[in-house]
Amino acid sequence: MKYNFDEVIDRRGTATIAYEGQRKVYDYENLEPFWIADMDIKTPDFIIDHLKNKLDQAHFGYLVWKQEEYLNAIKHWYKTRFSVNVQKNDIYYVPSILFTVTEVIREFTKEGEGVLIHTPAYNAFLNLIEGNKRVAVESPLITTDNGYELDHEQFEKVAAREDVKVLVLCNPHNPTGKVWTKEECAFMKEVCEKHDVFIVSDEIHMDFVRSDKGFYSMANEMKLDSPIVVVTGLGKTFNLASLASSFMMTKHRYFTLQFNRKLATYYGLAAANTLAVEAVKVAYTQASDWVDQLNQHIDKNMTLLEEFIKNEMSDQLSFIKPESTYLAWIDFAKSGFNESDVQKALQSVGKLATGIGNSYELGESHHFRMNLACSEDKLISGLEAIKKSFDALENDEI
Ligand SMILES: Cc1ncc(COP(=O)(O)O)c(C=O)c1O
Repeated sequence: MKYNFDEVIDRRGTATIAYEGQRKVYDYENLEPFWIADMDIKTPDFIIDHLKNKLDQAHFGYLVWKQEEYLNAIKHWYKTRFSVNVQKNDIYYVPSILFTVTEVIREFTKEGEGVLIHTPAYNAFLNLIEGNKRVAVESPLITTDNGYELDHEQFEKVAAREDVKVLVLCNPHNPTGKVWTKEECAFMKEVCEKHDVFIVSDEIHMDFVRSDKGFYSMANEMKLDSPIVVVTGLGKTFNLASLASSFMMTKHRYFTLQFNRKLATYYGLAAANTLAVEAVKVAYTQASDWVDQLNQHIDKNMTLLEEFIKNEMSDQLSFIKPESTYLAWIDFAKSGFNESDVQKALQSVGKLATGIGNSYELGESHHFRMNLACSEDKLISGLEAIKKSFDALENDEI
């Protein structure tokens, strides 16, 4: 391997939410973070060097983001990585992914109306739906021998409901790592068009697809005025979450007009981040190799977790190795303990901050989410701490 993903980086004391933001979420302090979805892996040097050159120019005035080099870089990435022909005219810089998801919800639903979502669901989606006084309408994923699958019949039933106006698709899916197939995407698009449901496809985890079937972007399904917005960015892949490097792609003329008008004249948010635009130019033209090797590292970590559960904790945990993302959705139903006991043990005995299941599920949860974008050493200590936590539960030590 050319790159070293096992280098231990210390992010403590750098105002990183993974460390310094724990107090808001957990009952205990100074936990080892395996929760929020950013990486304990450095952004590659060739991106940092490019940004340093930009810093040396020392001017950060208002920027025209619509540059040929920026649009060409996105086009190149989609063509070479996903075999998608993106039209440059369909690309728009956006302030953030979640902002864009929210704007689709606000544009196409009224308060009290339904937003269709596959559950378990990325917790921020559930919070945005509730915070905007809309109602989350569930399409629960089903678990089969092939992993997580769409329940076609149930999906169509809820999409057909009069009050359901938007589908928030997480493609690939956080927290399960499910990769939506071409057939599933085409089916959802057809059903949504038939029942007048607008699709916003959040594709931020697209670069982490490791299964043979590859990544199928909803951009493949877009024709003129298709009710689809695809939104993505560099945040996850290159650990640049705080750079605001997101962009959307759509052919829907009404939404584009409304969105851009509101950005400029309602929110006053039309300025683009120079470093984000520069990062796109270099990442999407030079990072193919780095991303492939990062995925090999994550796959190795996922296998380690899978083996650990199989050999050491098969009576308490089950786990479907994800086809995508660096997130592991771990099921502790077999252990017989409830979520508050498990979280107490993980935090107080294991000293671990993991993603808390009930923030991703509308009902009772028997899962926790674990971020595996870290060194092998960190992961091994985390796994030992999980075992210690469940041993303490078994031995009534909590
Ligand atoms: C599916 C998904 N969408 C969006 C985000 C955050 O995107 P942004 O910070 O650009 O709003 C995350 C971060 O965890 C995510 O997992």
